[in-house]
Formats: sequence, structure tokens, C-alpha cells
Amino acid sequence: MDRKQCCVKLSVQPSRGLVDEKFIILVQKVFPGFQLTIQALHTCEDGHSWEAFAHYTANDTGTVNVSEDPSLGGTYSGVEPMGLLWSLRPVPGSKPGLRMRKSNVQTPMVVKISVYQGHQTKGLVDQVPLARVVVERWYMAPGVRRIPITEERLTATLFLPSGPGPFPGVLDLWGGGGKLVEYRSALLASHGFAAMALDYLTPKVVMETGKMVDDTYFEKAYGVLERHPQILGSRIAMLGLSFGANVTLKMAVYSKVMKLRCAVSINGCHVQPVEGSVMQVSRYIGKFYPKTQVTKENHVIWRNWALPITKDPSLKVDVGRLQSPLLLVVGEDDQNMATQESALDMKEMMERAGNSHLLTVLSYPNTGHLIEPPFTPFVRFSNFRRAQSSERTMLLWGGEVVAHSRAQEDAWRKTLNFLKENLYGRTDSLSRL
Ligand SMILES: *[C@@H]1O[C@H](CO)[C@@H](O)[C@H](O)[C@H]1NC(C)=O
Ligand SMILES: *[C@@H]1O[C@H](CO)[C@@H](O)[C@H](O)[C@H]1NC(C)=O
Ligand SMILES: *[C@@H]1O[C@H](CO)[C@@H](O)[C@H](O)[C@H]1NC(C)=O
Repeated sequence: MDRKQCCVKLSVQPSRGLVDEKFIILVQKVFPGFQLTIQALHTCEDGHSWEAFAHYTANDTGTVNVSEDPSLGGTYSGVEPMGLLWSLRPVPGSKPGLRMRKSNVQTPMVVKISVYQGHQTKGLVDQVPLARVVVERWYMAPGVRRIPITEERLTATLFLPSGPGPFPGVLDLWGGGGKLVEYRSALLASHGFAAMALDYLTPKVVMETGKMVDDTYFEKAYGVLERHPQILGSRIAMLGLSFGANVTLKMAVYSKVMKLRCAVSINGCHVQPVEGSVMQVSRYIGKFYPKTQVTKENHVIWRNWALPITKDPSLKVDVGRLQSPLLLVVGEDDQNMATQESALDMKEMMERAGNSHLLTVLSYPNTGHLIEPPFTPFVRFSNFRRAQSSERTMLLWGGEVVAHSRAQEDAWRKTLNFLKENLYGRTDSLSRL
């Protein structure tokens, strides 16, 4: 063993941070030209392990800086400061269709960053690394409070930023899988918004009564935010992804109770029975189920559902009636919903109605359906169970790893800015955030 190997210095800064924060990984004190592999390893709460690795060559002073030096191979290549996170993938031999989702946001995502000698591609787990650092990635910033909400028969969790407030509010909805998914709300609270994660497909009230919620459920959630002493009742937004974005679009246009300051739709679709309840929308979707396509790999494509964009006005949310700003985030390779077609149609509707000044569209090529917070590992397909259904489907979400990861970073930054502008008034007065 050569002398220098024992003295390899690895540092990750910060080693404890928010999930959307960049880190700098530095390897020092190796021979000039030394070949090494840097690996990231994460074991999820469900017990599955995810791995990413990249090959580097030390420069003349015996240093590798992952933020500046190119990966020569591995799960990503080129200069990619955060590649060790977004290119994480299930370790070989894992069951297919895994997706990484944090369920307990009160603990961090723990990632082990290790350095190995040589350019290696497998068997790293059986070796002793030259150096290792354990990194913590948090959805909840220090001081963020997590408050379970059961009033009004809601199944929800409110996250309040640190400090006395009052803070603007965000009602945060996920898609067709149901469950109470908290991590994005926790992260929004880490950026200064009182955010409520709301389960609307599988909440307690649905489980008990067997009946799906109607639109008043969302209005009750809004009311809880509006009345909260630490929330600015006149500064509330709604944000959703997928089915949650469908709901967001509908409530933003038609609710007489909710006075939203702005709305964010991430891969949502305005084509849905406008008069319909969640149950009717769900049934309407179910009707199209047998027409879905399947790829060679047996991944189900749902995206032909809303095609072609209908001319029937009773099947379209009339975004021409919107009176507050709307941000549409669109993955152009969304294989789950016809979001690009929907966005184009919404734009035309708003132009015709004269309110297109309220519309911002962020459209990303080679980007799929699951646009998550930055550095979330990319999955092109995953094993999905629709709420209220016992069937599991290997659903194709679409996207390509590099483009999709860049889109997640860009979309998140611009979404936070959009919320700040519309909920706090001005972006530049927010430097304290
Ligand atoms: C090697 O990389 C380090 C860190 O990026 C840098 O500070 C140093 O100047 C580089 N040395 C040479 C000789 O390129
Ligand atoms: C590593 O690269 C980052 C990004 O360019 C830079 O900010 C940092 O100073 C570099 N670290 C060293 C030791 O060169
Ligand atoms: C949202 O609505 C569109 C149009 O009705 C539909 O194709 C899509 O499946 C809905 N989203 C979900 C997740 O159900």
C-alpha cells in the first residue's frame, strides 16, 4: 500500500444542509494523476439502497473538486457538482420500479460519500474506502415546525417556518397516489412559506365513509390556513403536481371561497369534467384506462388520455376567468399526461380572454412527469398504485436524466421566486430568506 493512500482527505461542505442546497466535494492529498472513484450511497426508509458513482483523476496538486472537475465515467459524466445525488439509482439487483420519497421529514436523508482507489464500476460495497464522509440532507430547516392538522376532518400537516411570522401560506397537493406526502411542504417552509400538505384522495374521512371528498374539502383546508394566527390570510397560494395540479387549476378558477394570490401547476391538465367532484374526475379518468399504451418493457403510458384536447367547454377549466397569476411547469416528455398540449391550449384560452399577462409557462425539453425538488434522483418509470385501487402498474413518467435533473433545479428556483413575488410582494425585500 502506498503511503499517500492512508492520508486521503475528503471533505463535503456543507455536510448538513437542505436537500435543495448545493454541496462541494473535495478530495485532497492524493498523488497527482491518481485515479479514483467517488461513490454516494443512500439507504431509504423502505430499506432499499441507492448508489451513484463517478470516476475522477486528481490534478497536479493531488486534488479533485467535484464542482469543477469532470467525471470521466460512472452514473454521470462531465462537470456535475450535484451528479452524485441526482444520478442515484437503486443498487443492482433491487426490485424494479423503485422511487425515492422521504416519508419521515423529521429525520434527514443520510448519504455516505466515499472515495475508492481506481476507476471502478462494481463491488464497491465490499471494499474499504480510502475516506468517507456522512452527509445529512434535510427537508426541514432548523426551527421549522411540523403540525398535524385534524380539524375540519382534514388529513393534513402544516409546516411553519422558523420565526414569529406571520407567513404567507401555500396549500400543497400531490397526485393520484394519495397519502399524506409531506416533504415538499417541509421544504417550502424551509424557504419562508407556511405550507400545508393535504391528503385528499386517501384521507381519514374517505377511509371511514368510503366517499371521496368534494371541493369543499379544499376550501376547508384553505380556511384553516386563512384563520391561522401565524399565516397572512390574504396571501395564500395553491400548488399541485399531476392530479393535484388538476385540482389546483379548478379551484383557482371556480372556488368562490378561496381567494388565491397565485397558483402553480406542475404537470397538470385543465381538461377534466368541470362540474365534477374528485370522484367524477377519477371515474372520468378510469374510463380511459383500457385505452392506455404499453411500451416494449411493459411500462404503461397514460398520456393519450386527454388527447386530443377537447372542444367541449364542459370538459375544460376556463382559465380565461383567472384573476391571479398562474405558473405552469411543463415537462415536454411527460408520458403520463398531455401537459404540453394542455399548456398550449390554456395559453390560447388566456390570450383569447385577455388575461394572458397572468400566465408564466416554464417548459422543459426531455423532462418527464415527476418534477420534484432539486437533486431528487430521477426515475423514468416506477411501480405505482392509484389511490382507491389495489392494482399496481409500472407507469412510465418520461424524461431523460440530465435534462430532467436540470429542469428540477431550474423549476424549483423559479417556483420559489414566483411564490415570493406574489405572496411577499417583492423579491428583493426577501433577502433575509
Ligand atoms: C487543483 O485543483 C484545486 C481545486 O480545484 C485547485 O485549487 C488547484 O489550483 C489545482 N491545481 C492545479 C495545478 O491545477
Ligand atoms: C471547488 O469548486 C467550487 C466551485 O467552483 C469553488 O467555489 C471552491 O472554492 C473550490 N474549492 C477549492 C478548494 O478549490
Ligand atoms: C388530470 O386531468 C387529466 C385530464 O382529465 C387527466 O388526463 C389526468 O389523468 C389527470 N391526472 C391524474 C393524475 O389523474
